[in-house]
Amino acid sequence: MNILKDSFGRRFPYIRLSITDVCNFKCGYCLPDGYKVDKSDNRTFINADEIGRLAKALSELGVCKIRLTGGEPTVRKDFFEIIKIIKKNSGIKKTVITTNGYRLDRIAKNIKDSGLDGVNISIDSLNRETFKIITGHDRLPEILKGIKNLQELNFNNIKINAVLLKGINDSEKDFDQWAEFIKDNEIDFRYIELMQTGDNLDYFNKYHISAKKFTNYLSNKNWIVQTFGKDAGPSKNYLNPKFKGKFGVIAPYSKDFCKSCNRLRITAKGDLRLCLFGNTGINIRHLMQKDNQIEELKDLILKQLNYKKESHYLELGETGLTKNLSTTGG
Ligand code: 5AD
Ligand code: SF4
Repeated sequence: MNILKDSFGRRFPYIRLSITDVCNFKCGYCLPDGYKVDKSDNRTFINADEIGRLAKALSELGVCKIRLTGGEPTVRKDFFEIIKIIKKNSGIKKTVITTNGYRLDRIAKNIKDSGLDGVNISIDSLNRETFKIITGHDRLPEILKGIKNLQELNFNNIKINAVLLKGINDSEKDFDQWAEFIKDNEIDFRYIELMQTGDNLDYFNKYHISAKKFTNYLSNKNWIVQTFGKDAGPSKNYLNPKFKGKFGVIAPYSKDFCKSCNRLRITAKGDLRLCLFGNTGINIRHLMQKDNQIEELKDLILKQLNYKKESHYLELGETGLTKNLSTTGG
């Protein structure tokens, strides 16, 4: 069997697939003015059948996990149909999503019934006012209710991500609030260091802070770094026997971050992206049209992987094609 592997020996068991660019939130670092249709691009988003074929090809290339992202993936009307197609036919073992959680309270039951294997929710602050300032929406109570609903249905693989923002959600009080939250909750919480994109330079300069601020807190409070498992990915996790949940950090500016890269991305319009910030990547959608194209699709993806670079060069201020993360789902 052909396995996805690049010229630096990294393997790619994990794909992030965006299924829409549309998002209803206005996060300051991503879409501060809300989602706007890109009029210069009249392509539609990949449909459920295309996604089904793509998933099958990826599975045959050794991919075992697909993360559906957006924009906000749950805004798609055929969201659950997409999950069904991936689950039923493709051979992909784990299907998970990243969501802003705005509909979670209403769709918790459908999520449980769909057989989804995990849900990552973006919550930048447990403080309602701060949450509103960052995302432009006063939706924190519903999101927390959605988490409760999932837990009541015994849906257990829930993770929360927040972007670390200087002076907004980086105080010891914020960290303590999350610690309290994961104390009796079997939920993993991670801070992601703010990344610079083509659109957010001013915001980045104003709010970027090193994840060290959080990892120092963790050391002071006796959290212990979990040694990396194979294919652990770029998140560094911390354990504490007094807490049910884990803490984690994703620090893209840290040295050697890219060494543990285990993911490729595919955009909602069918572009393969070798790196979130790379400017390499081509459209592969024309090979998702018929069942008999799957071999060709696999070949093309394998060939493209040879172009994956060793590192993102982010620290040099290179942001590649990435205007903001709403098209690539973070
Ligand atoms: N830097 C870091 N994280 C970001 N996200 C979106 N834009 C950025 C950025 N510029 C995060 C979202 C979400 C995940 C999908 O990506 O907050 O948690
Ligand atoms: Fe939407 Fe996610 Fe971007 Fe926030 S970060 S605007 S939730 S796509």
